[in-house]
Amino acid sequence: MYNACETILSQTMEQKIIRTRDIQDIGRFPASDGKLSIVGRPVPDRSAFFFSKLLHAPLNVAGKIRKKHAFKEINQLLTRQIPASVQEMPFYAFWLADMAEVCLRFCDAQDSQDICFWLGTDRGCRRYHMDNVPMRLLVTYAGQGTEWLPDEAADLQAYKNRAPNEAIIKDPSAIRYMENWDIAIFKGGPNGLLHRTPDAARTELSLLMRLDHPSFWDNVLKYQQPGLAS
Ligand SMILES: [Fe+2]
Repeated sequence: MYNACETILSQTMEQKIIRTRDIQDIGRFPASDGKLSIVGRPVPDRSAFFFSKLLHAPLNVAGKIRKKHAFKEINQLLTRQIPASVQEMPFYAFWLADMAEVCLRFCDAQDSQDICFWLGTDRGCRRYHMDNVPMRLLVTYAGQGTEWLPDEAADLQAYKNRAPNEAIIKDPSAIRYMENWDIAIFKGGPNGLLHRTPDAARTELSLLMRLDHPSFWDNVLKYQQPGLAS
């Protein structure tokens, strides 16, 4: 349960959107009544330069990451996928450490010793949807972040009727996008957060990290392509 700590920047009661700058608030989110929490973070210097070197080709990796070995195991997943010249850049280790820390925080939030990790450029969920998982964490490291819609700007009946996006969006001015390096943790299921892959991410390379409870890997991924993410 969130308390009135100073790190909570704002909370809109109707939408239950929690904005904070403290990464420790990830651990408080599961027990809260929030639908979405965004940990705002500055984009590090050299980030744009680094990802301009990295994103010359599609990249998709997935695997189970253990909390105690997050840095090493993310490095092992990526090492064959990323050119040596990029791995030699100092920013590479900084970025690995960031992903490892977010994994560790998400493990703690899920009370789990491991998590399902996916990092990729293939993002194919064009239609607004709610994820079929209890909770998900996303960080867009480069390119357009995930598009999301507050409930009051959405026609939820149109969504349930499988209507197209144009019918779901009641107020286009309310559309929001997750910002680069911000950590978004949100709830899924029938009352989850409405979101989708932004159009820009379908035409320009972007890089998204997605974390799920390991049960997602065990029960769902083996039946689906692991690359699709919003
Ligand atoms: Fe999604």
